[in-house]
Amino acid sequence: MGQSTATMHAVRLHAFGGPEVLVHEEVPRPAPGPGEVLIRVHAAGFNPLDLHVRDGFSAIPAELRPVWTPPLTPGTDVSGVVAEVGEGVTAWRPGDEVFGLIRFPGKGAGYAEYTVAPAEHLAAKPAALSHDEAAAVPLAALTAHQFLRRLGPRRGGTVLVNGAAGGVGHFTVQLARSAGADRVLAVASGRHEEFLRGLGVDRFIDYTRTPVAEAVHAEADVLIDAVGGPEAHRLLPVVRPGGRIVPVYFGDYRREEAARLGVTVEEGWQVRSSGADLAELAVLLDEGRLQVHLDSIHPLAEAAAAHRRAEQGHVRGKIVLTVRP
Ligand SMILES: NC(=O)c1ccc[n+]([C@@H]2O[C@H](COP(=O)([O-])OP(=O)(O)OC[C@H]3O[C@@H](n4cnc5c(N)ncnc54)[C@H](OP(=O)(O)O)[C@@H]3O)[C@@H](O)[C@H]2O)c1
Repeated sequence: MGQSTATMHAVRLHAFGGPEVLVHEEVPRPAPGPGEVLIRVHAAGFNPLDLHVRDGFSAIPAELRPVWTPPLTPGTDVSGVVAEVGEGVTAWRPGDEVFGLIRFPGKGAGYAEYTVAPAEHLAAKPAALSHDEAAAVPLAALTAHQFLRRLGPRRGGTVLVNGAAGGVGHFTVQLARSAGADRVLAVASGRHEEFLRGLGVDRFIDYTRTPVAEAVHAEADVLIDAVGGPEAHRLLPVVRPGGRIVPVYFGDYRREEAARLGVTVEEGWQVRSSGADLAELAVLLDEGRLQVHLDSIHPLAEAAAAHRRAEQGHVRGKIVLTVRP
């Protein structure tokens, strides 16, 4: 990736910290290198990852913490229009509408009027979606898709999704059945019940009213856990002996106790950029077989408000930044 003499607006951070470190400012416009595409960004998706970038990954165990040095532009998910292509790019032409998860694992720079992405990280934007909707898809839907394909149900059975109303969760409950599940159980706070039933879940469990392990006992063949954390082990009893837990975020699953119960805890894994996988999801989105729900939309210049919204919790679907309304 190079730089041109032109400028653009972007949101950057010059020091790690709270939402106030996000600054909307004029910066050099990037230029595409060989194999890369310059995208005029119309919308940028928010992900919890952006909170970790903003605060210097303080919640991540020190030995796994990436070392990133400011100034940084957060953002991995974009939808926009190809402005220019670098040497050797034949898949895209200026004017094409594209969306993508950019350079992940690694540094995207999506909170900006222009960004540069490897050509193979992009897919054609689903025509049925607005740029705001398309920007909400990549990281969360690719996570659902790739985790289900790698670690999902193998011979039917019951999949329980914890954190079911969030970005990753709402895509996972929709994709689980085509990935092989016979039944899909969703765990979320009560406010999301109607939403999740509308997405076709077979059973809804409100974790704020009933301990999940009391409502579901040794029933899940696969638990896809988009919550994790120090209390993650409380969900061990929901998985049947011989079943598996698929952690999407770090959690304390008390592996010895899990082994005693005959429950396998899969190793942590990370989603990765893939235009080809995203193109598969684009077909489902265009045909209305996969839906994206927007929690809230914020102008790029108010990225701090988007981060504050995320930090309030109880997100339903996705938070998006509009760059070019
Ligand atoms: N490994 C990877 O490659 C990968 C990829 C993507 C995301 N992630 C991680 O996965 C996690 C989820 O991401 P996301 O984008 O889906 O986040 P999100 O959009 O913020 O959604 C989180 C959801 O969890 C729910 N929740 C919170 N506490 C809960 C609890 N105790 N039990 C059940 N549900 C609870 C929240 O709503 P309610 O409390 O109202 O139900 C919210 O809907 C994040 O930690 C993210 O960093 C990892």
